Amino acid sequence: MDNEIMTNEENYAFDVAGYLHIPSVLSEEEVLSLNSALDAISGNGNLLGGSDTNRKFFRDLLVHPTLVWYLNQIIGHGFRLDQAPSLLGYNDGETSISLEGGDEPRNPSLAYRIQKDRRSCQSVKAIWVLEDVVDDDGGLVVVQASHKSNVPTPDDLSTGADDMGLVIQPSLKAGDLFLVATTTLQGVRPWKEKPKRLLSYKYAARAAIQSNPEGPQSETESLPRWSDEAAEAQKAVMYVPGFKGSNPPPVINTDGEKTWVEDDPTVLHPSYYTRDPNSGIDEKEFYFWDLNGYLVVRGLMDEQWLAEANEAVDKFQDRIVVGSELAGGSVSQAGTGRPLLSGLLDLPDPYNQPFRKMIAHPEVIQRMNWMGGSGYRCGGATVFCAVEGTSGHSLHDGNEPMSPSRGYDFKNGRSYAETVTITWQLRDVQPGLGGFACVPGSHKTQYSMPRGIRTCDDTMGLVVQPVMKAGDVLFFMDGGCTHGALAWKNPTPRRGVLIKYQSKNVNWGGGVVDPQDRWGDMVEDMTEEQFAVMRGPERDGRHRTVPRLIVKDGEVFVSYDAEGDSYSSKYRKPGEKR
Ligand SMILES: [Fe+2]
Repeated sequence: MDNEIMTNEENYAFDVAGYLHIPSVLSEEEVLSLNSALDAISGNGNLLGGSDTNRKFFRDLLVHPTLVWYLNQIIGHGFRLDQAPSLLGYNDGETSISLEGGDEPRNPSLAYRIQKDRRSCQSVKAIWVLEDVVDDDGGLVVVQASHKSNVPTPDDLSTGADDMGLVIQPSLKAGDLFLVATTTLQGVRPWKEKPKRLLSYKYAARAAIQSNPEGPQSETESLPRWSDEAAEAQKAVMYVPGFKGSNPPPVINTDGEKTWVEDDPTVLHPSYYTRDPNSGIDEKEFYFWDLNGYLVVRGLMDEQWLAEANEAVDKFQDRIVVGSELAGGSVSQAGTGRPLLSGLLDLPDPYNQPFRKMIAHPEVIQRMNWMGGSGYRCGGATVFCAVEGTSGHSLHDGNEPMSPSRGYDFKNGRSYAETVTITWQLRDVQPGLGGFACVPGSHKTQYSMPRGIRTCDDTMGLVVQPVMKAGDVLFFMDGGCTHGALAWKNPTPRRGVLIKYQSKNVNWGGGVVDPQDRWGDMVEDMTEEQFAVMRGPERDGRHRTVPRLIVKDGEVFVSYDAEGDSYSSKYRKPGEKR
């Protein structure tokens, strides 16, 4: 604990989710003492102050060594208390179905920042669990990855009218510590029975201006010496943080000639761009996609189409090829090899029809255009036919390390997903019985995927297996979002038709373009080093797949070290015959 190095698992979990659950920080005795102290103080009032000797327990928690160790790494050194401790959802009117947080529009005084492994999350709530909270108890709820949302939170999600399958109520044990970024969408839902004791301390980064506590300073005006002569707008630009009238700060506006102070304290921050109601983008879909890295569109296939597709798969069962076991050393996901039936677009008539209908379906095109821009192309269609006992496919990909040919970016209101894979469900995908799984938010992480996520042996609660009906269609950021499959446990085999799309910008799935084919005679008699840079765009996989120029002792050489990728065996050196 002396070295300030959280494990990669902890860094990954907070970076992906916007919260971190640290179990068993307090001993049973400490929890008992804190609960007795709360009973004695009887309420949710001045826990740190007053004359009650019990305040000692709450002052100890304020700078608990474990908490300090984590906050130094999550907020940064010099963090400070922003709001006095209080029990969540104890006071009248404090619980509500609605949620607060999200990062659009951004509030820099609260925002999550990370660059080159250096993180400064400006605002964190440290929640000490003093009573067990089990499923459906109510109380604290959070939305994974929402501290990085680029899209405004849909009204239905903030008001609680539609949870969109995103709202999580964490199960907690007495003695646990739960750290949550303030920009993570969160709320305190009404408790099912009596309120459970979750004691929250809110901390801020050293320079972040957030709350004004009810001390004497916040009751005092700080005015310039010449305030008698000052106009309201002049006084407004000379406010001092912490003093009366500073929180929220004054909002000054102008028409270009005169200035005035607005009555409404809502932040004024004009945007260069306006939202386009005619973009054809469904707001909830865009939010869900940017937040999670995947999207399920419900009921695109009708009964007849489903029947035709299933009949075709039934017909060609003898073409199913069982591949290798893909659980990657996982204990929980081990099983038999993965059965695939590929070449669906090339099946004899009329069996190819239900699959050819998929590749440029209007509902696909509409979404592909906003997910990554036009110009994409797809490969073939393959149906995944896992049977009961088929292994999972260990989770793979994600934003770290960066992969320009497969990543996700968001800029000026546009989604840039370079690879989107679509899976058409020909059968229901039941909860807990296996199938596609992913880590929502992993398309934005700056930490590498931990082993427990890869194997799904220790998911830290971050992995999701979407429940789908036959006819639903899954879109996911193949390469951006960490994904794979959980072992199939359903007696009815899986039937998901997978079609991969690649953007116009990069070549991830293609093969080699030979320099000769690209340039013709121009490359004749080139040196090996010259020839090496005359290739066309080609597969940019995770391994080093292309001949690289290296400089040694002032001379240039070609390295063909391909580290296991198939490229090197296909690559033709100058003078070699095909
Ligand atoms: Fe994959």
